[in-house]
Order: sequence, then structure tokens, then C-alpha cells
Amino acid sequence: MHENLNDFDSIKGFLDHEEGILLYQMAKKYCIKTFAVEIGSYCGKSACYIGEACKENKTHLVTIDHHRGSEEQQYGEEYFDPEEYDYENERVDTLPSLLKNISRFQLDEYIKVMVETSKSASEKIKNEIDFLFIDGSHTFESARADYESWKEKIRVGGILTIHDIYDSEFEGGQAPREIYEKALGENFKLVKRVKSLVAIEKIS
Ligand SMILES: C[S@@+](CC[C@H](N)C(=O)[O-])C[C@H]1O[C@@H](n2cnc3c(N)ncnc32)[C@H](O)[C@@H]1O
Repeated sequence: MHENLNDFDSIKGFLDHEEGILLYQMAKKYCIKTFAVEIGSYCGKSACYIGEACKENKTHLVTIDHHRGSEEQQYGEEYFDPEEYDYENERVDTLPSLLKNISRFQLDEYIKVMVETSKSASEKIKNEIDFLFIDGSHTFESARADYESWKEKIRVGGILTIHDIYDSEFEGGQAPREIYEKALGENFKLVKRVKSLVAIEKIS
């Protein structure tokens, strides 16, 4: 395993290091035929774990984010970060931090940045993807839209990873868990769970 993995934990973000390791392991194992996609780049923490595996496999990650922040990251909200705010234009802007982190770890060749909404990106990416990570907005509407617009794009034998799965609403929002359970009832089976991150394989 590459020594960079431990360094990725210093990147600002919402991912636990052990969850990052699972993303790396799943991308390393499954991202072998085409490429990987991530919804919700933020400042690039998860992207670097996945990107490192893509580098080793000589493939790439497409990371998608409109960079305007999720609901809870807006000005005055619980996860608002003044360092990621464009005061002149009065909006969240995480793109500069994403680009800086990708370059810091020399992953520019392996991580392709798409500044788009999940929905518009899904209309452009047609290929059968190996690996998908869903970590965008956690409203029920957005999580459902992410799952529905991307699930058919994963190849059979590919992997879907979903972040922020909580077993009760006291621990956290239930939208990611709802799409996880829907996927298990369709054509996905659980491969591994670490903390709030699940990896489920598309079996048919
Ligand atoms: C929880 S953060 C992602 C955290 C990141 N994966 C990490 O490792 O730190 C969610 C991100 O999803 C983005 N986002 C929310 N809704 C989106 C949408 N509809 N399309 C694209 N990006 C979206 C937000 O801008 C935000 O940066």
C-alpha cells in the first residue's frame, strides 16, 4: 500500500481515514476495466484515496461537484467553513482547495475534475463504470436522484460505495441508508462496511 495514504488524512474533509482506506482498497480491486466516478469532491480528501488506486491501476477518477456546497455547508450552517467561501461572490467555493490538493499529491494525471451537478454529469457519462462513490447532498431527494441516475452506469461486477450510512436517525440522516437498502433489494450485495461507508457489488 502506498505511503501517501496516511498523508491523505491531513486533507480537509468529511471522511475518516479508515473509510479512506476502504475506498482505496475497493478502487484498487474493482477499478480495472474502465474508470471511477465520485459524486461530491469537496476539497478532495476521498478523491485522493481513490485517485491513488487509479494511479496504481493506470486508470482514472472523474470527480464531480458543483463546488457550491451542500445544504449544511452554506453560510451560517453547521458545517460552514469560512476558508471555503468566496466573499466577493457570496458563495461557497471549494474548487481552489480541490485543485490544490490534487496537485499537492501529484494526482493531476489521474483525477479529472468535473464542475457540474450530479444530474448534468450523469447525462454526459455513458460508459460502464467500474467504481462509483456517492457522497453528494444528503437530502432524500438528492440521494435518490444520485442513485437512480447513476446505478445503470455501473458495470455488472463493478462496485458502488456510499458514505454516511447511519443505523438510526439519532446518529445521522437516513437518506444514504435509504438508497443503500434499495440497492440491496435490487441487484447489489454487501462486500464490506467500515464505519459509515459501505461497498456493494453489482451482481446482475
Ligand atoms: C459531504 S461533501 C463531500 C465530501 C468529500 N467526499 C470528502 O471526502 O471530504 C458533499 C459535496 O457534494 C457537493 N454536492 C452537493 N450536491 C451536489 C450535486 N447535486 N451535484 C454535485 N455536487 C453536489 C457539495 O458541493 C459538497 O462539496
